[in-house]
Amino acid sequence: MSTTKVSSWNDFDPLRHVIVGRADHTCIPPSEPATEAKVPQDSDMRGMWGPRPLETVEKANEQLDFLVGILEKRGIRVDRPTPLQWNQATVTPDFTTGTMFGCMPPRDVLLTVGKEILSAPMSFRCRYWEYLAYHPLMQRYFDEDPEFRWEQAPRPRLTDEAYQQGYFDEITIDERLRRTAALDFVTTEHEPLFDAADVLRFGKDLFCQHGLTTNRRGMEWLQRHFPGHRVHAVNFPGDPYPIHIDATFVSLRPGLIINNPVRRLPDEQRKIFAANDWEIIDAAPPAHNEPPPLCYSSVWLSMNCLILDHKTVCVEASEHRQMEQLDKLGMEVIPVPFRDAYPFGGGLHCATGDVLREGSCEDYFPKQVPGTRIRPIG
Ligand code: GLY
Repeated sequence: MSTTKVSSWNDFDPLRHVIVGRADHTCIPPSEPATEAKVPQDSDMRGMWGPRPLETVEKANEQLDFLVGILEKRGIRVDRPTPLQWNQATVTPDFTTGTMFGCMPPRDVLLTVGKEILSAPMSFRCRYWEYLAYHPLMQRYFDEDPEFRWEQAPRPRLTDEAYQQGYFDEITIDERLRRTAALDFVTTEHEPLFDAADVLRFGKDLFCQHGLTTNRRGMEWLQRHFPGHRVHAVNFPGDPYPIHIDATFVSLRPGLIINNPVRRLPDEQRKIFAANDWEIIDAAPPAHNEPPPLCYSSVWLSMNCLILDHKTVCVEASEHRQMEQLDKLGMEVIPVPFRDAYPFGGGLHCATGDVLREGSCEDYFPKQVPGTRIRPIG
């Protein structure tokens, strides 16, 4: 008898089975074109690489385990990846990297669309092998759910042609913002690239952030791969480091989205939401002025929440403004301490990957309007 069912079409229907990452062996990878563009010039991570301090790994794992306990108490099944020894050099015919990264954020790698879990190409060289941490789980789901589609996007080569050379030389924040608005990113269009966390799922429609980690070709690949879906490109000009959509644009339930107020969706791209009666409201401001030390992400992990169903949401425990906003919106808010885990790859949404949510593939955007839609090349 099968014991696993894979199915998830969005980020808000009732969650029944989820993967929660692990911090073990996580490394700060050596500099490479993609991380150079992502890590701010004044970041404490500049010039550092190698295994993260053990005590920080232990603290992050404590918070990840605490999250697991909360979910399990609510009857949600939780699986965990099998970390590799990330502190080893890897070689492909096209590049080498001194260490890998880690497997705290399954959301970055695994894109669940219905009965399929698709491992993303990933655009950081240090993350090329990360999907292997999920291999034992994928194998198990494959054995237990006869309808599970275990998929892998084309493995990229990540040669120097995949990146704009000199993209990050003496780049100011204003220049970064200009480039985000102009859709000028470190990743070129040489080959399809996307990270799974750039894709926001709304049943039949998939909205992809065009940024440092996902290119146009990646979205075109997704459109051809999911011919029954409509793939859309969105971008957020206020974000100087646009990677991963889930600290920028978060769907709370059918018809309601919170948008980072300093990274607003441009008017042209809002039309499809307005035409289909989706409300986009500003997310509450973060509680902190700075992310924790050695962290890739911004303070806007405040809005990176894990939705358990249309009325229940996990929010980082110190984010009092975000919790208050969600409470006023009629949600039961579960505070979860998580800042020690942030440096390992993000917030509560990043740290999880959907396996099963109730519900089916709905058409939330029956009125399609021009402005965002990707059409396959040719
Ligand atoms: N991309 C996640 C953040 O805002 O930091």
